[in-house]
Amino acid sequence: MTPPPDSPLSAETIRAHLKTRQLGATLSVHEEVDSTNRLLADLARAGAAHGTVVVAESQTAGRGRLGRPWASPRGLNLYASILLTQAHASPALTWIPLLAAVATVRAIRAVTTLPVKVKWPNDVLVSRDGDERKLAGILVEALGSGQAGARAVVIGIGLNVNMPLKAFSEDLRSSATSLSVEAGHPFARAPLLAALLEELERLHDQLCNHGAADLADAYAALCVTLGKHVRIELVGSGRMEGTAEGLAPDGALRLRTGEGKILEIRAGDVVHLR
Ligand code: BTN
Repeated sequence: MTPPPDSPLSAETIRAHLKTRQLGATLSVHEEVDSTNRLLADLARAGAAHGTVVVAESQTAGRGRLGRPWASPRGLNLYASILLTQAHASPALTWIPLLAAVATVRAIRAVTTLPVKVKWPNDVLVSRDGDERKLAGILVEALGSGQAGARAVVIGIGLNVNMPLKAFSEDLRSSATSLSVEAGHPFARAPLLAALLEELERLHDQLCNHGAADLADAYAALCVTLGKHVRIELVGSGRMEGTAEGLAPDGALRLRTGEGKILEIRAGDVVHLR
């Protein structure tokens, strides 16, 4: 049997790399869960602290955006969920999915020189031979409103780290990839996760203390959707085409249609056309 490309994750090995104040102060690592997002949402309802992190070596029912599954084989990738419970004004809350994408790109760039970018809202892509392949996906789930508008969110991040191409299902092989496939060598997951938590904490502090302006600039610099002609596949049904012109103040995608109308898209799948 081929040996695993990286040693098993443990709270100790992750902590040994971690320089955060709050994110990961409470951290649990599981062999197998259904979904780290589901588990952390339950912990949040039971009073888990801001910054609690749940990590798993494998998931049996990993959740993706728009109700899709997230393939989560054992020991190869990062499957992590992070709880933010600090009260957010609603404009800040809408930036969390985009913030998580910027943090993921920065963490990846700390360990590779791969040309990593973002497709709106938060698919992390790498381009090779003119094609974009997905390296990481992010699912942010809000946990409802509590007292005085305080809300909690779970940020779920799935980052394909050491997954060989043959481990992807056939339908994903041309559109998904991993760091090891792209770079040609395996990566240690613990320092990568620690870097990701640090970037998340830094960006979240900045968002809470200074608002979304710097985050919006950082996101726009990484987002390959902006300026492109795109098709939006809307949640539910329907699709539309137009040019992705920029971001609205809450992070929504501004789309200019063929008739010159500007629409603000808050949920849906983007297909880059040119
Ligand atoms: C996407 O569809 O692009 C989002 C995928 C998010 C997957 C991660 S893996 C860790 C966390 N737990 C889940 O069940 N989903 C997220």
